[in-house]
Amino acid sequence: MILIKLGGSVITDKAEYRKFNRETVSRLADEIRRSGEQVIIVHGAGSFGHVVSKQYALQKGHQNDDQIPAVARVMCDTRELSSMVVEELLAKDIPAVSVPIGSCFVADGGKLIVDNEEPLRRLTDLGIMPVMFGDVLTDRKMGFSIVSGDQVMEYLCKMYDPEKVIFVSDIDGLYNKNPKTEKGARMIGTVTRKKMEEIAMESNVDDVTGGVRNKMEAMLRMTDSRRHCYLVNGNAPERLYHLLKGETVTCTVAKGGLE
Ligand code: IPE
Repeated sequence: MILIKLGGSVITDKAEYRKFNRETVSRLADEIRRSGEQVIIVHGAGSFGHVVSKQYALQKGHQNDDQIPAVARVMCDTRELSSMVVEELLAKDIPAVSVPIGSCFVADGGKLIVDNEEPLRRLTDLGIMPVMFGDVLTDRKMGFSIVSGDQVMEYLCKMYDPEKVIFVSDIDGLYNKNPKTEKGARMIGTVTRKKMEEIAMESNVDDVTGGVRNKMEAMLRMTDSRRHCYLVNGNAPERLYHLLKGETVTCTVAKGGLE
């Protein structure tokens, strides 16, 4: 099984509130189906989550009651996005069902708590793919918190022990600086623990590279001696398909574990 996250930057237009990139999602669903691989998909929230969350500072947890209608709004928007993703999968004959994390789980201080795997296991045993996504979730300490699709990926990685983990984004791979805003950004083809330490040293870990380091660490956490984790551009047609088929494509690959 291969675990895939479709990032919010690919499935939505992050600059426009609730803009779904239907054609891209349909193409990616087709690439997945043609690969013949068994996959589990997680997706991000993109402009269905980040716009309102930022406006009401939902990442801080419950601070005032003006936030409450915004929490319900985001939960409604992310569910709508997820239904649209699932429609595109069903259209390609991939049996999938949207499973909002709030329907079976809670968070504790921003961390996803999964205390009952039975609903997920029963779906996958039937051959139905549970599609989970980054969302606002009720939280034991904070009232509510934002749990990213990346956190869900880490959990599912432990639970299902996939052969590969793939993050589908709108960039060709991981860069040492933001390639969209900074000159001289260099793509990092392979991430290992050693490489991560070298890059952190050479760039003094400012905010941007701190973000890159976090992403490297998160990717490495999902690797071990045999499982690699990839970051690939979903806007480039056929790249996900070839990666799923085990071919070499432009991407960043993390390997070797974090220890
Ligand atoms: C964010 O999830 C969830 C909310 C903002 C409600 P992600 O962090 O997984 O989403 P993307 O991939 O960045 O859009």
